[in-house]
Amino acid sequence: MKDKTAFLKNKIDTNSPNKNIVPITTAIDSTNQLSIGGCSIEDLVRKYDSPLYILDEITLRNSCRAYRKALEKYYPGKSLAIYASKANSSIFMSNLIASEGFGLDAVSEGELLTALKGGVPNNKIVFHGNNKSDKEIEFAIKNNIKVIVDNNHDLKRLKEISDYFNYDIEIMIRFTPGIECHTHEYIRTGSFDSKFGFGIESLSKIFEVINTTKHIKLIGLHAHIGSQIFELDPHNDLGQIMVDVISQAKKFGHNIKELNVGGGLGIKYTEEDDPPSIDEWIRTVSLSVVKACKKNKLDLPILMCEPGRSIVSTAGVTIYKIGSFKEIPGIRTYLSVDGGMSDNPRPITYQSNYSACLVKDPLNSNSKNKYTVAGKHCESGDVLFKELELGNCKTGDLICVFGTGAYNNSMSSNYNRIPKPAAILVCDGEAEIIQRRESPHDLLKYDVLPDRFMKQS
Ligand code: LLP
Repeated sequence: MKDKTAFLKNKIDTNSPNKNIVPITTAIDSTNQLSIGGCSIEDLVRKYDSPLYILDEITLRNSCRAYRKALEKYYPGKSLAIYASKANSSIFMSNLIASEGFGLDAVSEGELLTALKGGVPNNKIVFHGNNKSDKEIEFAIKNNIKVIVDNNHDLKRLKEISDYFNYDIEIMIRFTPGIECHTHEYIRTGSFDSKFGFGIESLSKIFEVINTTKHIKLIGLHAHIGSQIFELDPHNDLGQIMVDVISQAKKFGHNIKELNVGGGLGIKYTEEDDPPSIDEWIRTVSLSVVKACKKNKLDLPILMCEPGRSIVSTAGVTIYKIGSFKEIPGIRTYLSVDGGMSDNPRPITYQSNYSACLVKDPLNSNSKNKYTVAGKHCESGDVLFKELELGNCKTGDLICVFGTGAYNNSMSSNYNRIPKPAAILVCDGEAEIIQRRESPHDLLKYDVLPDRFMKQS
């Protein structure tokens, strides 16, 4: 029978964390207990309670450095790595990626504000979105942040707002390159039928329209073909298509200096996943842009990429406490934990699979039992694992779920008025809080009972 804990024994790739399931610093100590970043998980939960999001600083920094190193190797002196902050947005994450020389991609005033508060330089921030509000556009313009224009409405508003304030702005144009890739349909964005970006066939018209504006300067192109992608060919094709569009823009007098190829590199959630390394992905993208520029006789643009998941996912784990068990003879045993779809909506949204183990006895040395791991929300579909093999466990034991650093915290909700977990950073045996745990009282903060109802009660 297949060893379901093999992922804990795999050799760890420190150069490309997206190829591991566990954070780089994961260890099993002499008492057979799991630790990350030199911190015992049991001790962390004793201090910070559960559910608990944990981020491993070494894994985060190694991921950032792998991108920077590969860009320097394959595209020397002319690149900028940008962190897609939708993957996990916080003042801490903004600060860390800025300290690693990264820029940041934001899609709302909230993400922009978080980036600025975290110390990301405004000239390294790009502002995305298929339906930016006037207030958001104004915020970006006033903070000198580059706007990625997504559609005609966006361009019209930007023109009107920049004319009104008499501000010059630099923009990039996002377009859909018509590339299909194999990933979940909800996270596929590069095909013609996508809500994001201008259709590639409409670009000549857009280039003309920009020429009639007073304050808008087109300096870059952007495309993003999807997320959790394991193939390299779509990104090879993307480089060539984007460079062809640079040539097209040139005919309209636009000098495109920046090419942003988006993000999308996949990570290893389970043993079955085998994503390319960060080096391989950057190599593919860089070589395709270099080759196409040579062919089209163009100077190399500044190459930008926007990884999110492959920066932060593997660095993160979520710890849950086991509560109730329900055995349905001959069918299954449900094991319920103290979190679920509010702290990790990915299984119910995309049928995503994860790897997990017990914190005490991670290798299941005492026995093997199959459980369906359910969350605590009032929803039958709130199931984190349809089938998970665990050793003997009881109420109060802890489960560690790996690969939850991206799109968990950032997509979390307060469904059933469940407060969001705390987030902790671990490094060299020290743990620091980076997001405080919400309390039920915090959730009442925005409720208002109109006066006339107060009088009635
Ligand atoms: N750039 C743009 C314009 C994007 O839309 C995205 C992701 C990224 C970069 C970063 O892609 P990444 O490197 O993380 O694959 N909630 C989904 C993922 C949605 C991705 C949205 N856009 C999930 O949980 O799988």
